[in-house]
Amino acid sequence: MKYRSRYVWLNGKLLPFEEATLHFLTPALHYGISVFEGIRCYDTEEGPAVFRLPEHIARLYRSARVLGFRELPFTEDELIAAVRRVVAANGFTECYIRPLIYLAEDGWNLSVDAGVPHIGVAVWEWTKYLGEEALGRGVRAQVSSYTRHHPNATMSKAKISGNYVNSVLAKTESVRLGFDEAILLDGQGYVAECTGENLFLVRGETLYTPPAAVVLEGITRDTIITLAGEFSMPVVEAPVSRDQLYIADEVFVCGTAAEVIALREIDFRTIGAGRTGPVARRFQQAYADVTRGRHALSRAWLDYLPVPAARPASASATGAH
Ligand SMILES: Cc1ncc(COP(=O)(O)O)c(C=O)c1O
Repeated sequence: MKYRSRYVWLNGKLLPFEEATLHFLTPALHYGISVFEGIRCYDTEEGPAVFRLPEHIARLYRSARVLGFRELPFTEDELIAAVRRVVAANGFTECYIRPLIYLAEDGWNLSVDAGVPHIGVAVWEWTKYLGEEALGRGVRAQVSSYTRHHPNATMSKAKISGNYVNSVLAKTESVRLGFDEAILLDGQGYVAECTGENLFLVRGETLYTPPAAVVLEGITRDTIITLAGEFSMPVVEAPVSRDQLYIADEVFVCGTAAEVIALREIDFRTIGAGRTGPVARRFQQAYADVTRGRHALSRAWLDYLPVPAARPASASATGAH
């Protein structure tokens, strides 16, 4: 089975993987009333290290606030400890981490106030999200026929599970059409983001990215903006049109799962040289260094865990965002 591990942390307890199951009548399953995070743990020279863990947990709690949860059964610090515990218990050196706050009891009247939130954290071993070749070759994308959420519909600041139906519709359509990824426009027709990544374009010496108001405030996006500062590269947050993508020197997307991946073609138009360009390559390298403990910023952004005694046998998988 894919996404396997030895233990899942559920409501304060480490359960064997097989026992971490939910009842069919869990409201979160029926209405998408849950919020989640996607976090990664990297193998570094000093042992496994979780990248920007407090920032991810803080965003999880902000997502819960956007969805309207008032009382949560654990604090942010307790959940940070839970993440560390479940990664260590599974003995992984490199993995994907999936916390989820979900409406588990009642809530059948479509109000979060009528239900009780529960929290779980699962982990699984990881391979490349957009494929092994994507790093150097880049991937092919299409402007989706689906529009990104309006800020006054399901909003864009929260990783609410139900919101991801929009990403699933767009990604399914794009992959069936033969593309690798979908670019979603916002309600005004400007570029918003991809199904699980934020987007940057390069023109000359400047990086452009859609404003935070219409996209998820990606932690990788923030990392890229910080690294751009290190490179003395200006970053402009401004509306981006689809034809600005077509004429860009480079376009790349970034997210916890995808990391930094160039778009070599959009809507059958070759972007730049049709492969990962020098700017995207520079960010890929810096991102690899920062996540693997080889960068000056690594110390601030990595949460080091004890080195596991022995690696457990486990299936690896691709997936998630
Ligand atoms: C819609 C969307 N945009 C952007 C991102 C990138 O966010 P992050 O860099 O925090 O993973 C994600 C992934 O979480 C996402 O689902």
